[in-house]
Amino acid sequence: MSASLATVSYIGATILFILSLGGLSNPETSRRGNLYGMIGMAIAVLATVFGPRVTMAGIPWIVGAMVAGGAVGLYAARTVKMTQMPELVALMHSLVGLAACLVGFANYIDPAASAGLSGAEKSIHEMEIYIGILIGAITFSGSVIAFGKLSGKIGGNPMLLPARHFINLAGLLVVIWFGREFLNAHSISDGMTPLIVMTVIALLFGIHMVMAIGGADMPVVVSMLNSYSGWAAAATGFMLNNDLLIVTGALVGSSGAILSYIMCAAMNRHFISVIAGGFGTTSGATPVAGAQPAGEVVPISSVDTAELLRDAKSVIIVPGYGMAVAQAQHTVFEITKHLRDKGVNIRFGIHPVAGRMPGHMNVLLAEAKVPYDIVMEMDELNDDFPTTDVAMVIGANDIVNPGAQDDPNSPIAGMPVLEVWKAKTSIVMKRSMASGYAGVDNPLFYKENNRMLFGDAKKMLDEVLLALKT
Ligand code: TAP
Repeated sequence: MSASLATVSYIGATILFILSLGGLSNPETSRRGNLYGMIGMAIAVLATVFGPRVTMAGIPWIVGAMVAGGAVGLYAARTVKMTQMPELVALMHSLVGLAACLVGFANYIDPAASAGLSGAEKSIHEMEIYIGILIGAITFSGSVIAFGKLSGKIGGNPMLLPARHFINLAGLLVVIWFGREFLNAHSISDGMTPLIVMTVIALLFGIHMVMAIGGADMPVVVSMLNSYSGWAAAATGFMLNNDLLIVTGALVGSSGAILSYIMCAAMNRHFISVIAGGFGTTSGATPVAGAQPAGEVVPISSVDTAELLRDAKSVIIVPGYGMAVAQAQHTVFEITKHLRDKGVNIRFGIHPVAGRMPGHMNVLLAEAKVPYDIVMEMDELNDDFPTTDVAMVIGANDIVNPGAQDDPNSPIAGMPVLEVWKAKTSIVMKRSMASGYAGVDNPLFYKENNRMLFGDAKKMLDEVLLALKT
């Protein structure tokens, strides 16, 4: 393939990636967005493999790597459960970071990569390598720790070292100092020491940064690492002089940064304070901090739940992580259909961080074919709870916790929540009194107008559906 055809293909792929991002911003156009992204990526890979910079001798290596990587990817995509997606995404971000590091080292060692460069050009090339490896190493180790936390292999408690901000600052100064040493090095072997020292510091910084972030703030970390992986790819693009990689990396980097900002706004957190660590608590079931809720917990049966739903004129369903675990979305759809046919005004309230990844609930509801026009964002229907007969909470906990508003000592204080307790009756469907991701007790369960439908969400909803139909 000629250089000009490769360039045209790259421009085509760039346009497709931009269209893809545009499409993914809306559930109705998201399939098309995905398709654009897939076609764009296929064009990008083909234009690179058959482009002027790959020799015929390299093709078998590339094909071998693609078959091996594709097989692992296919296996993971087929076997990973929806609830494990955030872990998988974190693991994939780590691979982008690792790739940026490896490309950086290979680029530095390869004499052909810097052949003909001198003066400012050589310095810029070396800075690209240094910064690329720096971002790559932070992304790699940070993402591995995020994977550990999301999969429960590492506890959700924030690890707050004494003087941690000073440790970070000292690390930054050392990295800058070794950057200078690296740029002044006269030979590759001279430059290797500062490069390796910086890589080790960056790896430790990535671990420290994510370890310091508590359970409830993990959504921000996931999207922030997504952004880092984009910048790591862009840095790799600079190292390899690959325009497409620069553009794609910048798209991922900036969209990830915007998503992190949206997440922070949704959780009423300041981005810098999340990154600096200190929020959040445990990921386990032990309630922590905050005032102990008072009142009585009133259980309800599935038959009585069906009765309440049958008599209601308006219902708001709030799904959470438990709906994903139980895979209850299809039964939720059946119940929705049944009630809508009977004239009940039924809508869904989606919290921005419900579940374990951005858009988690939207994906599940779309999969179950719930119409998009009754799936609303939190802000769109939070004012409607006082005029709602039944608010049905399915496997959600933190996102409906009134303590976030009432208790300034709660670890999730200030996080906007769906105000289900303002409905005439709220019904919470979960298996026990255990806390949610943030590890905080929930005063909602003890409110006078609240009922608890204990059990697996799928099983209980099946019973409710049966009761509705008989
Ligand atoms: P959570 O607060 O984690 O609550 C989920 C509840 O579902 C649990 O209390 C659990 O109670 C229940 N549950 C689990 N399996 C169930 C089943 N099979 N049937 C019925 N109930 C079941 O979830 P949420 O309300 O969706 O809030 C999300 C939390 O995750 C927030 O703290 C958020 O910060 C965090 N987070 C979000 C993201 C993103 S990007 N969305 C990423 C990482 C972390 P039982 O054990 O008693 O059943």
